[in-house]
Amino acid sequence: MNEVSEKSNLDVKNLHVGFQTKKSVIKILNGIDFSVKKGETLCIVGESGCGKSLTSLSIMGLLPKTGNITAGEILFDGKDLAKLNQKQLSSIRGNEISMIFQEPMTSLNPVHRIGKQITESIRLHQKVRKKEAEERAIEMLRLVGIPSPEKRIHQYPHELSGGMRQRVMIAMALSCKPKLLIADEPTTALDVTIQAQILELINKLKQEMEMSIVMITHDLGVVSEIADSVLVMYAGEVVEYSDVKSLFRNPQHPYTKGLIESIPKMDVEMAELPVIKGSVPDPMEMPTGCRFSTRCPYAQAACFYEVPPMEESEDSHQVRCWMYSERWETIEREGILDDCSRETAASRELIGG
Ligand SMILES: Nc1ncnc2c1ncn2[C@@H]1O[C@H](COP(=O)(O)OP(=O)(O)O)[C@@H](O)[C@H]1O
Ligand code: SF4
Ligand SMILES: [Mg+2]
Repeated sequence: MNEVSEKSNLDVKNLHVGFQTKKSVIKILNGIDFSVKKGETLCIVGESGCGKSLTSLSIMGLLPKTGNITAGEILFDGKDLAKLNQKQLSSIRGNEISMIFQEPMTSLNPVHRIGKQITESIRLHQKVRKKEAEERAIEMLRLVGIPSPEKRIHQYPHELSGGMRQRVMIAMALSCKPKLLIADEPTTALDVTIQAQILELINKLKQEMEMSIVMITHDLGVVSEIADSVLVMYAGEVVEYSDVKSLFRNPQHPYTKGLIESIPKMDVEMAELPVIKGSVPDPMEMPTGCRFSTRCPYAQAACFYEVPPMEESEDSHQVRCWMYSERWETIEREGILDDCSRETAASRELIGG
């Protein structure tokens, strides 16, 4: 997947994000790598707190005040977004890259009519007359399936249903014909029928507009319907990265397997996985080796102190787990990797010494 970088319009490389506290920097994202080709949909999945939203906010330059990109690159059409200032980023946001959120009211202003909001967003980035922007707003509202858009533009957000508000937000996000749409759980708050309609709409628009999509979702049903490739995140790291068919046919990381086995019982908040006990570790108390070791049914001593590398296990499929390494046999047989690790492990009382 990395070898196609030159054709990608988004290339995230070794992204690290930390939060500044009074005493230190808490590391949250620990070397995220992925790329999205033109016209492709990448889904990011993982439980709450894995770092999905912060990954997308980093791309948009919208990290909270105390959050910083501490290393890495975010290449978008050749530009490194991580190096741009807020002014440069704001000219890209809502223009070349748009974002939609779970709750439409975070993007919609409650005191302005929806027509005004869309036309202003169009005119902020493009030199068009008011009349033309208004016509485009109506056209966008029609495109997202809002009936009688000429009348709707005079309404306020609170006068619309949740599903209609979500459509308005999508219309606004797409009104500038972005090259990249980032959607953070855009359908979570909606009922199943509306959710299906919105996803179908996003898919249709993607094809019509040749746009790339980064979609964050905890719903693997959604992933199977819309993704071309999937990034599975756990505790601020990527643990599996694959094309969608390969991921569902042959999920490899124990965490991904747990997510897939949990599908029928999956709760909206995904606070707990029925088949994987425990929860995502606190960023202040990350396990030293594999971050999943505290919950993994296959964990061996080495897993607790040696970080597994991200490795290509088959074509277009990468996984971060010792089980897919040539060294797994040794790990299983001896519980350790080498003498140096043996000392570390002994000092941690993980093995007998
Ligand atoms: N403003 C913040 N300050 C400190 N930590 C934060 C902040 N926002 C998020 N985090 C931490 O970053 C981690 C990832 O958060 P997030 O990206 O929102 O997860 P997800 O979207 O996968 O649920 C969590 O552990 C969360 O506690
Ligand atoms: S490296 Fe070890 S603990 Fe981590 S997922 Fe693989 S088997 Fe489980
Ligand atoms: Mg989130």
